[in-house]
Amino acid sequence: MHPKLAGALVFVTSALVGAISMQLGAQQAPHVHHAPAQSRMLASPLDLVEADVTAGQAAFATRCATCHGADGKGGRPARPNGPPASDLTRADLRTHADGELYWVIANGIAESGMPPFASGLSELERWQVVAYLRRLGGVRLHIRGPSVGGTRYVWSLPPGFPRPRVPADNPMSAEKAELGRHLFYDTRMSLDQTYSCATCHKQSLAFTDGRPRSLGVTGQFHPRGSMGLANIAYSPALTWANPTQRKLETQALAPMFGEDPPEMGLAGLETPLLARLALVPEYQRLFPAAFPEEANPFTLANVTRALASFERTLLSGRSAYDRYRSGENPQAISASARRGELLFFDERTECFHCHGGFNFTETVDYVGKGFVEVEFHNTGLYNLGNDGGYPPPNTGVHAVSEDPEDMGRFKAPSLRNIALTAPYMHDGSIATLDGVIAHYEAGGRTITSGPMKGVGAKNPRKSSFVKGFTLTAQERRDLRAFLDSLTDREFITDRRFSDPWPATRR
Ligand code: HEC
Ligand code: HEC
Ligand code: HEC
Repeated sequence: MHPKLAGALVFVTSALVGAISMQLGAQQAPHVHHAPAQSRMLASPLDLVEADVTAGQAAFATRCATCHGADGKGGRPARPNGPPASDLTRADLRTHADGELYWVIANGIAESGMPPFASGLSELERWQVVAYLRRLGGVRLHIRGPSVGGTRYVWSLPPGFPRPRVPADNPMSAEKAELGRHLFYDTRMSLDQTYSCATCHKQSLAFTDGRPRSLGVTGQFHPRGSMGLANIAYSPALTWANPTQRKLETQALAPMFGEDPPEMGLAGLETPLLARLALVPEYQRLFPAAFPEEANPFTLANVTRALASFERTLLSGRSAYDRYRSGENPQAISASARRGELLFFDERTECFHCHGGFNFTETVDYVGKGFVEVEFHNTGLYNLGNDGGYPPPNTGVHAVSEDPEDMGRFKAPSLRNIALTAPYMHDGSIATLDGVIAHYEAGGRTITSGPMKGVGAKNPRKSSFVKGFTLTAQERRDLRAFLDSLTDREFITDRRFSDPWPATRR
């Protein structure tokens, strides 16, 4: 394997091992010798509650203790002359990834006679046993409060994806996500009842709208383009360039009530909106189901909690590239895309510096991550007046901080599903992916005439990683083929993410 690839690309593995070893302060993570390396890519899908650990303990007592002992210290062999069952409390077991323990439980160990539990325990039970093994080994688990309304939430994580971090005051539940889906697609959520979140975030376009800049309900254009919502659960900073916009619960208020420009146009209409929603039969069922402890669940806070919960379910990690990378199908992407992958992860192009990791952006957060990365970069898209200016109001982080150093700095978006989300950049000013590649090749964009005139490559505040490079025509096609391989068709057709309303309401 290409050395850069080995370093930068085995993203998941290092992310997960990193997460675990950071937690434990361990240096090296030896493998469970019986589990294949791929099993490390599986993270536990459980947003753990204490009841999971209790259930895991109960399953352990009935299914595992016969050989491993009630205290987990092992001892009995599975068959005469076989090795004794392992001590599951020993220190080095802690460094094994959850996925490896899960694999051993599901598949057993033929050589030593440990039986498989693929049918004896459900998937949920197996993950609960993993949680118990963690506790047995002295690992501090991330347990959230009691589950909402007695139901528990199981993430549907693609291979290689860690568990998203969720705010303590809005734990996930299937009921909330289902309510949020209805709200997301509901045109009642706008001034004249023609607009919903989905007007600007369409599933078929990976939750963008295909416009250079979004058009609000009053016919005014937003200064910037809509953004894809795939894997938004992992984004610790929201929108193109606002470091203060951190929570989905708060962010949802911007399109609903913002006035500059109006998106859904609900400013001042909070009470009529809630009254309108309370009259809808579906909501008379969905709101109490999502917020069972509340006497009147029809509150604005609950609207945004539900929207955020739905948005966190929008996980995309089943592209051809993922099938190739996880080993599921080594032929899933073309030879051209594989060459493009090498280019992407090469210091010649530097793409991976800003668009690396399992979500193809450095700006990510998840359960167990030691520190949150939030980065904003200037890619030399403009250079007004030859002193690095960007056209207002799109001056990047500068528009919030007013610090000249922040001029032109934007969030590097995830490149997942990028072939579906044209046009590109914060203002949609590059029409095609080939155009984006040309922009990076030139080390910045040159605009030769008009008010936006300027040589972006000479922007004094440009990131040093956007330094320009030359590709052959074939290499350009290769890089393009790689970007195309990040398209997740299952994601854009998944019924769990689609419009729940009957056609008459659309
Ligand atoms: C019939 C006896 C038996 C039962 C039942 C059994 N195991 Fe095992 N287990 C073994 C043996 C034997 C080994 C392997 C020891 C070796 O190869 O060195 C083993 C190994 C393991 C390992 C690998 C540890 C390591 O050091 O790599 C794990 C994890 C594990 N068992 C978990 C479980 C869990 C969880 C259950 C219950 C769901 C369970 N086992 C049930 C006999 C058993
Ligand atoms: C008029 C079109 C429009 C509507 C309607 C709209 N959005 Fe957006 N959305 C945008 C634009 C434009 C941005 C980028 C905003 C910025 O940079 O300030 C965005 C950004 C976002 C982001 C940040 C994504 C990221 O990658 O950081 C989220 C989350 C989001 N919208 C959710 C919603 C929700 C939830 C609703 C419904 C309550 C909604 N949007 C309604 C246009 C829209
Ligand atoms: C210094 C960090 C950095 C590097 C290096 C970098 N990018 Fe970007 N990328 C960004 C930022 C920031 C944006 C958003 C810029 C804006 O809107 O002004 C972006 C935007 C994009 C977009 C458009 C995304 C969208 O949703 O509109 C694509 C495609 C893209 N980059 C691909 C690449 C490729 C391919 C490379 C390597 C040739 C690369 N990037 C290198 C930071 C970087």
